[in-house]
Amino acid sequence: MAKKAEGKKAARKRLEELRREINFHNYRYHVEQSPIISDYEFDMLLRELVELEGTYPDLITPDSPTQRAGAQAGERFVRVQHPGPILSLGNAFDGDEVRAWYQRILKLDQRVTKAEFVVEPKFDGLTVVLHYENGIFVLGSTRGDGEFGEDITVNLRTVRSLPLQIPVDSSRVAQVPSSLVVRGEALIFRADFEEMNRRLQEAGERTYVNPRNTASGTLRQLDSGETAAKPISLFCYSIVATDGEMPSTQWEILQYLRELGFPVAEGVSLKGDIEDTIKAGDIWVEKRDTLPYETDGVVIKVNETSLYQDLGVVGKDPRGAIALKFPAQVVTTKLLDIGFNVGRTGVITPYAILEPVIVGGVTVRKATLHNFDFIAEKDIRPGDRVEVKRAGDVIPYIIGPIEAARDGSQKPYRIPKKCPFCDHKLEQFPGEVAIYCVNAACPERLIRNVEYFSSRGAMDIEGMGIKIAEQLVDGGLIEDIADIFSLTKEDFLTLEGFADKKAENLVQAISAAINRDLSRLIAALGIRGVGDVVASDLARKFRTLERLTKTNAAELEAMEGIGPNIAKAIVDWFPQPGNQSVLAKLNAIAQWKSEADPADSGIEQTVNGLTFVLTGSLSGMTRTDAKKLIEKHGGKVTGSVSKRTNYLVAGDSPGSKLDKANALGVEILDEQSLLKLLEEG
Ligand code: IVH
Repeated sequence: MAKKAEGKKAARKRLEELRREINFHNYRYHVEQSPIISDYEFDMLLRELVELEGTYPDLITPDSPTQRAGAQAGERFVRVQHPGPILSLGNAFDGDEVRAWYQRILKLDQRVTKAEFVVEPKFDGLTVVLHYENGIFVLGSTRGDGEFGEDITVNLRTVRSLPLQIPVDSSRVAQVPSSLVVRGEALIFRADFEEMNRRLQEAGERTYVNPRNTASGTLRQLDSGETAAKPISLFCYSIVATDGEMPSTQWEILQYLRELGFPVAEGVSLKGDIEDTIKAGDIWVEKRDTLPYETDGVVIKVNETSLYQDLGVVGKDPRGAIALKFPAQVVTTKLLDIGFNVGRTGVITPYAILEPVIVGGVTVRKATLHNFDFIAEKDIRPGDRVEVKRAGDVIPYIIGPIEAARDGSQKPYRIPKKCPFCDHKLEQFPGEVAIYCVNAACPERLIRNVEYFSSRGAMDIEGMGIKIAEQLVDGGLIEDIADIFSLTKEDFLTLEGFADKKAENLVQAISAAINRDLSRLIAALGIRGVGDVVASDLARKFRTLERLTKTNAAELEAMEGIGPNIAKAIVDWFPQPGNQSVLAKLNAIAQWKSEADPADSGIEQTVNGLTFVLTGSLSGMTRTDAKKLIEKHGGKVTGSVSKRTNYLVAGDSPGSKLDKANALGVEILDEQSLLKLLEEG
């Protein structure tokens, strides 16, 4: 008896600890959106709590994290009540646990012997509940606490794969129920996430840590314009409520959702027995890394809707479904050192050099550290043991240090003051988190510069990629980008892998680049903030490189689309000694001029002063051609939609710009109407 009381006392203490810890990590995850432990570790804590509460049910308190399905509904959005409980899922961590689940439900209902199971990916995103009335999307919310969620309709409307009206194709489904509530998961595809981060990094802005938290944070922010600018996607998988007929199986539900026009995952399988079901789960583990989105397991669901419903609910989990979680992709290892990459604009990005460690079957030696703020915020120190997460194709990242593992030899990290490659003083610019090497002759930066200078959107030197750029810089054949124009066939022949033909082709490609328009040259210089839109504005205004170099900040700031930061970056760029020598060499090679002013060309200025944004692929011309055409007619093409945009020209598969334009009421043109407008004004 005494022993039992003691056990209970210890349990009470552990329960308190677990609840505190889980609540804390819940907060880090859902509110701060910056978790410090892996999902797997979180699941383990939760599981311990569930088991302990199972042993001592009288110790369950209403505030225990097991008593709610997820995060509390936030305060900033309007609370909405769900039409039914938005349930969670029980977890299994291996095949045996799935078999145990199967035995449990079999005991409850003999029909389970003959049951079929659907195996679906478990999307690592944010649950959304979507309401349709007479086929129109009227309300969308988060899951919140399972009973009430947050109304994020405005943000969800910007999600391109979310049908605003169903059926999307009325030839597939003739009629829709007057009320339908669908459940799905919002997420960001890996490729979109990487592209978004690449752009942010180039602009010297803070990059995002992982797709899941970015999707969740984005959908729960108050400015829907911001949401529209992020590549959020969606997958739907269940019907929460309907006043129409409910399909009789989960398999048919997926089919029905697909027919209505909802995005539904590919590769879902239907299995006739539990062993095949577990095997299907294993196949998902194998292909996990090749999926375009992140998953943290598979969901196994009893196929037959009536059996699923009859099995009922235990706590917040339906008995008829279970999540089979994938093995952890989080490990700990030693941070040997912090290395650096230099981008073409000189942005220095730190990365982690790790003691090699196997994560999810792949050896990881490097991981991203995002930026120097991240290192400071997490207090990451060389020599630390760190937690590393690998999420498929997305480069592995550091979750944080394990402070308890420090032995005193790990000193706080100091941001470098000098460029690790050229020793030049590093600089930070107002409003940016990034740190820059501003030395144009920095060899590491030069490689990126040469690559960019030669790329298709810039000087378009065919055949000149990063590998050749490296060879040229490492071989001492060029000291700056202007030296490219002095390269001879003999120079190339000294490099490994070059024969006559290849050398000749490159020399020819280089000489062809001498005739490029000034706007391309300006873009190719790699001045911070000067992309092709600003470059063509500058080329149009100044007409020669010579004149541009003599400009000042006030003159630049008077131009539309150029703010103080870009103006400063431009005027700071020219006087730098390294850049002066580049300019001198360039001027000696050619007279870099802009094409004749469009206003002098005799072409009618039908869209004079109007601003256009282009998105999607056009059928009759490239976007660059369309831009030129618009400019010839006096218009201007900018990169992003704002209140000042007059027209959005949308081709096939338009991006999020279309949503933003719709949200701002900007007029949308297709290719035909653009041509008509240019002709007739
Ligand atoms: S079914 C009552 N199917 O995983 C049915 N959930 O850990 C429960 N999730 O809250 C949901 N992919 O947000 C289901 N294919 C899928 C899912 C899925 C991801 C999420 C869902 C749920 C969480 C449970």
